[in-house]
Amino acid sequence: MYRFNHEAFQKIIQHVSDGVQVVNLWGQLIFCNRQSAILDDINIEESLGRHITELYPSLDDTNSTILRVLETGEPILNLDQKYTTYLGNEIHTVNSTIPLFDERGKLMAVAEISRNITEVKKLSEQVVDLQKVVLGATDHFVADKPLFNFEDIITRDPATLETLSKAMKAAQNDASILITGDTGTGKELLVQAIHNSSPRRDHPFIPQNCAALPESLLEGILFGTLKGGFTGSTNRPGIFEIAGGGTLFLDEINSMPIALQTKILRVIQDGRFRRIGDTRTREANVRIVAAINKDPQEAIEAGELRRDLYYRLNTITLNLNPLRERQGDVALLSGYFIKKFNAKYYRNVQGISPEALKVLEDFSWPGNVRELEHVIEGIMSLTEAARIELSDLPRQLVNAPWRQKHCHQLNLRAHVEELEKSLIKEAMRLAAGNISKAAQMLDIPRQTLQYKLRKLNADN
Ligand SMILES: Nc1ncnc2c1ncn2[C@@H]1O[C@H](COP(=O)(O)OP(=O)(O)OP(=O)(O)O)[C@@H](O)[C@H]1O
Ligand SMILES: [Mg+2]
Repeated sequence: MYRFNHEAFQKIIQHVSDGVQVVNLWGQLIFCNRQSAILDDINIEESLGRHITELYPSLDDTNSTILRVLETGEPILNLDQKYTTYLGNEIHTVNSTIPLFDERGKLMAVAEISRNITEVKKLSEQVVDLQKVVLGATDHFVADKPLFNFEDIITRDPATLETLSKAMKAAQNDASILITGDTGTGKELLVQAIHNSSPRRDHPFIPQNCAALPESLLEGILFGTLKGGFTGSTNRPGIFEIAGGGTLFLDEINSMPIALQTKILRVIQDGRFRRIGDTRTREANVRIVAAINKDPQEAIEAGELRRDLYYRLNTITLNLNPLRERQGDVALLSGYFIKKFNAKYYRNVQGISPEALKVLEDFSWPGNVRELEHVIEGIMSLTEAARIELSDLPRQLVNAPWRQKHCHQLNLRAHVEELEKSLIKEAMRLAAGNISKAAQMLDIPRQTLQYKLRKLNADN
């Protein structure tokens, strides 16, 4: 059998696109991959064995993360760094510096992994500039008009219909909204529909994924920058300004760095914000809708979501159930997608056989509506038949008993959820409906129980 050895790893690391450097206990460079040499304008052969403060004259023990980790033995993760190489190139990186220990736990060396985000930063600023041009060019923002309305959200499931009617009401006011739901359940669809039927519909709708960018970039994009306030920065508005009058959709809010979440909370509270490096505060006129694709309480407990921000957003929470729990939606949506792809692929598929539909209905759909749409599209792009038959279904649907809905019950999480539900019901019964008492019995915070109860009620 082929065994990975030291040499194989070195070879792999030579080809990764992040810079990797390793420094020994004396601060000397003992390994440096090609990407790192390119990034820092250094020559590998000449640099090995040299002390890092010699290689990077701007570094000393107060600002070098490598030296700090050598001293503390504690990793420093995802730190933003800006520096100038000795050739004068301005580089912006996100670094993780990790201690390396031997089997007995003795610190042996420190590795630093650097991702160059200089280009990403430029691109993301260009995107904001373009958004400004496109959105600023017309009063009606036609170019960025969201595509979906409430009529486009297809469902007959009672719980989902309930969520939609709550959302329609919410569209009429300005309170912040939190949307929860697994991947592919239609969160973005719902936000677009809310914006489109709100009084803000003639103003911009700007979605921003909070997971895509490192902290300093995201901050600049949200709030804007002032010339000189941020190395190499120019005067540019952030999307809080660009989305003025409209709706800002913060997707995957739990991936937003905690420090930034604090700033978002402040904007929601005071209605004001500042460009980075600016002393002047500006008025924010955006409605904030945030989305999260896991249980918010879990995200809070994992330290990914600030509790106070959650309470602020939580005035209106809209939950979208997984497809497998929606009644009648698999059939309804299948029909809807068949029509949609008849038009796209010039087909004339009339429907779906009862056996095939049964398989779709028994499936657990981990990717929810998005997955169903892809499956139907896949079939429709191939089939010549007048009806979708069992034999047209992709094999992973027919031959994956563990992905069937009833086998979903083997799923640990589903079981734990069931157990949790019954314990909560029992505690509420014993406490005669007193939430504080029930929370004590269950040994969880009262707010957690309140959230879980609300979710239970929404599910039933
Ligand atoms: N109820 C629905 N009716 C019609 N189409 C839907 C519905 N729900 C979802 N879709 C389709 O599924 C796609 C995925 O939905 P959307 O992007 O809103 O999911 P999401 O919840 O934001 O997922 P993620 O968490 O992965 O971002 C949509 O582009 C749309 O085509
Ligand atoms: Mg989404």
